[in-house]
Amino acid sequence: MAIAAKEERLISRIERLKKERQAIILAHNYQIGEIQDVADFLGDSLELAQKASRTDAKVIVFCGVHFMAETAAILCPTQTVLLPDLSAGCGMSEMISGDELRSMKAAHPDALVVCYVNSSAEVKAESDICCTSSNAANVVRSIPEDREIIFVPDQYLGAHVMRQTGRNLILYNGYCPTHFRIMVSELEETKAAHPDALVLAHPECTSEVSAQADQVLSTSGICLESKKTDKKEVIVATELGILHRLKKENPEKEFIPACKWCDCAHMKVNNLENLLWSLEEMRYPVVVDEAIRLRAKKAIDRMLEIGK
Ligand code: 13P
Ligand code: SF4
Repeated sequence: MAIAAKEERLISRIERLKKERQAIILAHNYQIGEIQDVADFLGDSLELAQKASRTDAKVIVFCGVHFMAETAAILCPTQTVLLPDLSAGCGMSEMISGDELRSMKAAHPDALVVCYVNSSAEVKAESDICCTSSNAANVVRSIPEDREIIFVPDQYLGAHVMRQTGRNLILYNGYCPTHFRIMVSELEETKAAHPDALVLAHPECTSEVSAQADQVLSTSGICLESKKTDKKEVIVATELGILHRLKKENPEKEFIPACKWCDCAHMKVNNLENLLWSLEEMRYPVVVDEAIRLRAKKAIDRMLEIGK
């Protein structure tokens, strides 16, 4: 069967089952193009958490990585949250365990804990307030100036927030293995080859890379700014999956990746086949231990009250 015809058949079966199950498909901006196109809603981590918290769909199929689906499961205990492939982890979120955070808290007993949403439910349960790349600075600003703050797990997002807010944070040494591949030397060469281009970077990039950017934004922030700009060329320092949305929304502009290898394998395990399979077999439900869920929800709810 020709690829287009096969895709069409998969999409029509997904659409039919979605109605039968009263399901909604949420997808992150890094998903493969076919998934982005079939999703009911496409966004960054904050927008996806907000959408999950407001939907009355019975089933939420989460096309993203595990911590995102887990966040939806924490917010929506009466709905079924499905992740099409359980191997969709996150290198950064796996860098910190509940025990490691508890040791940090023991060393700084008066500090409040801000955790990046790229973390496990257990780490969120140990935290006071959650944040995403689009609201981390405002989350930190919401904390009284005289309070010590532990920020986990992303040292680069933490460093970016310190520059934005002028606040001192106690950082953990986690990082995103995908964004770490973006080399400042390569970005400098790309900028020299495209001197008029706007440079947009994600805050998970190293501080050296972020320093080279015109703006440091969440994935949806990058999409918004790419639409707004009059520049015809945009250099993008983040995961390559975002290029599909950027090109689709701005066909007249050229998008140049800062690194050709910035590909998150975890984000790429979802495809039309396992999305359909997920709806057919109701696989894989993401369930969080109730005691942990209730504690983690407090940290997420506090973040959602702040919004952006
Ligand atoms: P956003 O919240 O900006 O979409 O980022 C999520 C992520 O995992 C980036 O690597
Ligand atoms: Fe995690 Fe990095 Fe992949 Fe985002 S890009 S999901 S932070 S490994």
